[in-house]
Amino acid sequence: MTKDSIVMDRNLALEVVRVTEAAALSAAREVGRGDEKKADAAAVDSMRAALNSLDMQGRIVIGEGERDEAPMLYIGEKVGRGTGPKIDIALDPLEGTTITATGGQNALAVIAMADENGFLNAPDTYMDKIAVGPSISPDILDLDAPIKDVLAKVAKEKGALINDLMVCILDRPRHEQLIADVRKTGARITLIQDGDVSAVIATTDPSTGIDLYVGSGGAPEGVLAAAALKCTGGAMLGRLTFRNDTERSRAEKWGIKDLNKIYDLNGLAPSDNVMFAATGVTDGTMLRGVRKFAGGATTHSLVMRSKSGTTREIVATHNFTRKTGFYGGEI
Ligand code: FBP
Repeated sequence: MTKDSIVMDRNLALEVVRVTEAAALSAAREVGRGDEKKADAAAVDSMRAALNSLDMQGRIVIGEGERDEAPMLYIGEKVGRGTGPKIDIALDPLEGTTITATGGQNALAVIAMADENGFLNAPDTYMDKIAVGPSISPDILDLDAPIKDVLAKVAKEKGALINDLMVCILDRPRHEQLIADVRKTGARITLIQDGDVSAVIATTDPSTGIDLYVGSGGAPEGVLAAAALKCTGGAMLGRLTFRNDTERSRAEKWGIKDLNKIYDLNGLAPSDNVMFAATGVTDGTMLRGVRKFAGGATTHSLVMRSKSGTTREIVATHNFTRKTGFYGGEI
């Protein structure tokens, strides 16, 4: 890598936060208004406009869906000014559409970037996931072992009792047995309604109190979470799951040969040059949501780079009266 391209990477890592800020500011206008689609569309519009202002030749790898089902930010769409480095992009303009529509917690605008072929081309199916923060050795993760055995190992490594551990799980009927098995061990559980990208990242931050994330969620969200963990450290395993043949052939179309493969962080986000940014839409475990005031708003974002391992928290005050943003400048 040349000196110039290192400078470019660094600059892009800081530029990219504008993209998630723009999406979050737009989505935040729809908090609690009961319209998931409108909230998502607002985030998509602004994220796309902001992305297209960046000096890069961007290609969306994880996006809003396939070309025929998503008018914007579809998989394969080219974004950016068409100059500068070739970048693969995984994004979710609004991770937590229901959270936003109901005014709940942990809705985020999220993006990850890497050099070419930097992310698994994950289809829009479910993925079994298990993740821990950097204080736990990756070897203890196992998607097939009884959860009591995994928790015993986490407790041992933390020098804690199983009862001290906090496990985060999406509150879904499909997790009934998993939840019962975790409860049997004595470990505590945070059940979340949505938003497993932020739940996985929470395992890397001791202040959240979350020791382990486990369960099945969206595969695209799995890749985004893995991109974040490449920057923070931590470990994760993911395995695609399929409900029908249509989902299986979708995976095959994206070049996935072994449908039962278990991916570790390097399988989910193979690049060693990953950038990740997220901006809070609503308040959450790690990020504050957008705060509006007369004539503007504040945002709270995380920006991280895998190469340096630097994590930045950025609090920005946006002045809507100057009408320079990608979010419509609405007051
Ligand atoms: P959306 O932003 O698309 O609404 O996704 C929210 C989410 O909770 C993800 O965080 C999670 O991976 C997935 O949905 C779980 O899927 P499901 O709601 O079908 O269980």
